Amino acid sequence: MSHFPRVARGVHSYPRDDSDPAPLGLGVVGLHEGRTALLAAYRTRSVRPVAGCDLDPATRAEVGAEVPDVAMTASYAELLARDDVRIVGVYTPDHLHAEHIVAAFEAGKDVVCTKPIVNDFAAARSVLAAARRTGRRLLVGQSTRFFESFRRQRAAFERGEVGDVEVVEAHYTHRMDWYYDRAPWIVDGTDWVYLGLSHPLDLLRWYLGPIATVSAVGARSALARAHGCASYDIYSVNATTADGRIGRVFGHYGTHELPRARNSIECVLYGSDGTSMAQYHDMRYLHTAPDGTEVVEDMLYEYRHYHFNNEVHGMHYGEFANYLQYFADALRSGAAHSPDLVEGIETFCLMEAVRRSALTGGAPVDVVSLVEQVSS
Ligand SMILES: NC(=O)c1ccc[n+]([C@@H]2O[C@H](COP(=O)([O-])OP(=O)(O)OC[C@H]3O[C@@H](n4cnc5c(N)ncnc54)[C@H](O)[C@@H]3O)[C@@H](O)[C@H]2O)c1
Repeated sequence: MSHFPRVARGVHSYPRDDSDPAPLGLGVVGLHEGRTALLAAYRTRSVRPVAGCDLDPATRAEVGAEVPDVAMTASYAELLARDDVRIVGVYTPDHLHAEHIVAAFEAGKDVVCTKPIVNDFAAARSVLAAARRTGRRLLVGQSTRFFESFRRQRAAFERGEVGDVEVVEAHYTHRMDWYYDRAPWIVDGTDWVYLGLSHPLDLLRWYLGPIATVSAVGARSALARAHGCASYDIYSVNATTADGRIGRVFGHYGTHELPRARNSIECVLYGSDGTSMAQYHDMRYLHTAPDGTEVVEDMLYEYRHYHFNNEVHGMHYGEFANYLQYFADALRSGAAHSPDLVEGIETFCLMEAVRRSALTGGAPVDVVSLVEQVSS
C-alpha cells in the first residue's frame, strides 16, 4: 500500500505521477464543483486537465489562477472543439447536464458527469438516444463509491466476506443552509432526491442490483421552509428487489448534525456471513471478522490529504481523482465500467420513483416500468 504525505502544501503539492506518457486530456464545464475535478486530475496518473469553461468571469479568473496551464473559456463550443480534450467533465447545475452531455457526445468526446446525470424523463431519453447514436461512453461521478472506506467495503463484499447481502441500509444527512445560499437553483430547479439522496440510492442499487419497487415518504424541514424549497428535503425510503431483498434509505438536509453519533453518509451491509459499514466524512470501515470480532479500520489520518487536500472535509479531491483514473483505465482497455450510462439511467428511475411515491404519501411505485418507459 502506498503511503500519503501527512502535510499538504497547496493545491498542486500532491505528488504527481507522470509515468503515463500520454495522459488523456480533461475539459470541465461548470467550475464550482468542477474546479475540484480539474485539480483532482493532477492526482491521477492518466488524466491531465487542459480546459475549463464557466459562464461567470470571476469564477474563470479564480480557477484559472490556480491552474495556469489550463485554458479558460466562456464558450462550451470552444472547449468541445479542442482536439486535446478527450474526456469532458460535466459539473453544471443538474437541469443542464443533458444538453452538455449530448453536445459532448456529438463532438466525439467521452463524458464524466457528476451525479445526478439527469433529473427528468425527457433529459434521460435524449442522453440515451445520443449515446446510441454516437457510441460514446459516460461514467456517472458517484463520488461516494470512490471514497476510501467505501472502496474497502466494496472490495470485501467482492471477496465474499459478508456473504449474500440480505439488507442494505444507507443514509446521507447534512445541514444544507450553505448550499441554499450558494446555488439558488436547488430551491426550485431540482429535488433533494436528485441532490443528496442520489448518494444512498446509488449505494442501494450498487449492492442490491435492480430495484423492483419503492415506497417513500417525504417532509419539509424548517430550513427548507425558510428557503422556500419546492421539494421535500427529508426522505424515508423502503425498497425491494424482485427476489425480496430489502433496502432502506434515509436523507435529511435540514438536520442539526450529530457527527459523533452518525456520519453524514453511512452504508451498512447485512449479509448472510457478516455485517459491514462504511462511513463518510470520517473514513472508517467497520466489519465483523470471521470469529465475530468487530473490526474498526480508521484510515482518516493516512488518506485525508489525498481526499480533502487539507480543506474542509467534503471537497472530494480523492474521490474525483479515483473515478477519473478508473474511467481512463476503462477507456484505454475497453473494459466495462460502473456506473455507466445505462446503470445511471436506471438509478435516475429509482430516484424518480422515490419522488413520485413520496408525493402520494407512500404508495408503491414500480421502478421496472419506469426504466422500460425511459429506454423504449
Ligand atoms: N459529491 C458530488 O459529486 C457533488 C457535490 C456537489 C455538487 N455536485 C453536483 O455538481 C453539479 C454542480 O454543483 P455546484 O454545487 O458546483 O453548483 P453551482 O451552481 O455552485 O456551480 C455551477 C457552476 O456552473 C456554471 N454554469 C452554469 N451554467 C453554465 C453554462 N451553461 N456553461 C458554463 N458554465 C455554467 C456556473 O457559473 C457555476 O460556476 C450539480 O449537478 C451537483 O449536483 C456533486
